[in-house]
Amino acid sequence: MINVAIVGATGVVGEMFLKVLEEKKLNIDNYVLLASSRSKGKKIMFMGKEHIVEELTEHSFDNNRFQYALFSAGASTAEKYAKIAAQNGCIVIDNSSCFRMDKSVPLVVPQVNMEDAYEHFNIISNPNCSTIQAVVPLKVLDDKYKLKRVIYSTYQAVSGAGKKGIDDLENNTTNKFPYPIVNNCLPHIDVFLDNGYTKEEMKMIEETRKILKKPKLAITATCVRVPTLNCHCESITVELENDFKIEDIKTLLNNSSGIIVLDDPKREIYPINTFVNGTDEVYVGRIRRDFSVENGINFWCVADNIRKGAASNAVEILENLLNNK
Ligand code: A2P
Repeated sequence: MINVAIVGATGVVGEMFLKVLEEKKLNIDNYVLLASSRSKGKKIMFMGKEHIVEELTEHSFDNNRFQYALFSAGASTAEKYAKIAAQNGCIVIDNSSCFRMDKSVPLVVPQVNMEDAYEHFNIISNPNCSTIQAVVPLKVLDDKYKLKRVIYSTYQAVSGAGKKGIDDLENNTTNKFPYPIVNNCLPHIDVFLDNGYTKEEMKMIEETRKILKKPKLAITATCVRVPTLNCHCESITVELENDFKIEDIKTLLNNSSGIIVLDDPKREIYPINTFVNGTDEVYVGRIRRDFSVENGINFWCVADNIRKGAASNAVEILENLLNNK
């Protein structure tokens, strides 16, 4: 029997876990949906039957009840309960930032470093949404041309800030963001750190280095929240060690697993949020030589941050673990 816990099942990512699991039909016998006391008793239709949400408690994982758990309930919930789950023989795939930089915890994007996922102590981390979509094309470029320097500029949708973030855009409130997100771009995601970067920016920098196994990679980031509902867009500027032909880069990216190139400027074709919404691929376009440096390229990268940037990535990790058991 394979029993799986979905922790944070009532949140934006949690609800997407359910949708992606329904689509994928993995070989799992039983699912239990967990959330905070606020959602206890809530009824959710899932896999064709009614599930009653349980309150997450210290005893939720007693008696080795679950073999796997998908967590998306924030870092403080993960800190306490993912550890309890892991101690009770449950393999946790956690979407929060809690364990990502822990050396003993693999940080995994299946197309990039699935091999790392097998070296775990019952906790596997799902990277930050902005990192996931960026490392998919960066890994391909690194394998062939070697990355020298990366500059990220992000345009991140409000869904990445959960239900309160969506609410601020839809109702022009300021419950999640410090200023109205309607009509504004806010260069501020997560908290500010002493070095002048935000935590989101440092997550992108550090997680990219960890996933690509390049601890000294020169990399910087500016992360911006913009008034879009879903899908993160990123302008990525890369310096490569080796020279390239721009057409070869386009072909290479287009032939890579999980990437779709949409790049035809003459026909005004490039990835945009509403087209990418609801998909699991990373879309790239505007691929062009950066004339300001040697061996530089610029490209535009868009992915559904709730699917590939969170729920689908975690479910893909689970799927791979199940298939390789
Ligand atoms: P709940 O809906 O009961 O508050 P989002 O960020 O999209 O709002 O989702 C956060 C998810 O994490 C929700 O499912 C929320 O449950 C859950 N969550 C938040 N805090 C806790 C907690 N202390 N214990 C269990 N689940 C939590």
